[in-house]
Amino acid sequence: MHNVIIAGTINSVNAIPKGMELLLQGKSALDAVEETIKIVEDNPNDWSVGSGGLPNLLGEVELDASIMDGKTLKTGAVAGLKKYKNPISIARQVMEQTPHALLVGEGADQFASVLCFEETELLSENASDIHQDFLSGKSLVNKPYDAEETMKKKECYFKIFQRLVQEKKMMEWYTKYAKENHGTVNIIAKDMNGDICCGVSTSGLSFKLPGRTGDSPIIGAGNYADNRYGAAACIGVGEIAIRLSLARIAVYEMSKGKTAEEAAILAIETIKDLGEDAGFLTILVMDKEGHTVSAANFEFSIFHQERMHFWIADSLNPIPTKRECLYVDTTTEKEGEGYHR
Ligand code: GLY
Repeated sequence: MHNVIIAGTINSVNAIPKGMELLLQGKSALDAVEETIKIVEDNPNDWSVGSGGLPNLLGEVELDASIMDGKTLKTGAVAGLKKYKNPISIARQVMEQTPHALLVGEGADQFASVLCFEETELLSENASDIHQDFLSGKSLVNKPYDAEETMKKKECYFKIFQRLVQEKKMMEWYTKYAKENHGTVNIIAKDMNGDICCGVSTSGLSFKLPGRTGDSPIIGAGNYADNRYGAAACIGVGEIAIRLSLARIAVYEMSKGKTAEEAAILAIETIKDLGEDAGFLTILVMDKEGHTVSAANFEFSIFHQERMHFWIADSLNPIPTKRECLYVDTTTEKEGEGYHR
């Protein structure tokens, strides 16, 4: 019988106990990952995942998610889901009920409808207000918003928006903006059978161009799991993780004998290959034994206003414990031996 482990990104702290409970009951890593991510997706105060997530430029919330089973290498993903609040569950159904790996847009919504998932309005009042303010460039500061605890985040978002809107150049604007406006949940779990599962869910880049899809539903980019070596998942600028196949790099490095820490650092170091295009990314890596680390090329989370960290729980310590991410400087030139070099 294996020690059970579950690890997740900053925004998963209140959800991890549910995943841990399931793992301790002997449930599969797949169940633990799905149920843990659903809790984050259902949190209306999380503006980057599930219902309550910030919308695209047109004010429509578009959700992306993926799940990968490390035992079978089966995977399911959805992108641009507009009517259903738990994309991770629909991604799992894509994996289990279809021969496909990814459903997008209307097709993903239709699939959820056929499976009798309940339709939900994904745009919350808060998210709609922020979208309106974003479009008009109005100040948030004197608006009577309801939830006091989210006020800090709103001010933070708005300051970024204001600065970016003032630049007025779309390409430049999105390029810069994209570096700062991503939020995602990553969960990796290992169950009593030693099976590993990795799940990722996001509402993507806030105020993105409609149809824009990041790394979260792209297997190899934002998510990868293989029982033989381990698993990895990303948060940050999805376009960069797609261009580098970042999650796959970390798992590949572990397949070549690197530790989880070495694999995470090597993956983040490949961001240097993109030169000036480089953006902010964090990778969460678990090896086949359950050793887990996270590495990032930035030190502080602007949304959570604290050092980048992740949460981990296991059979011996079932209460989530906070661990700091390893910081990797990708701004200075240094000879590396990363995958692309
Ligand atoms: N990493 C999430 C996204 O770029 O959509």
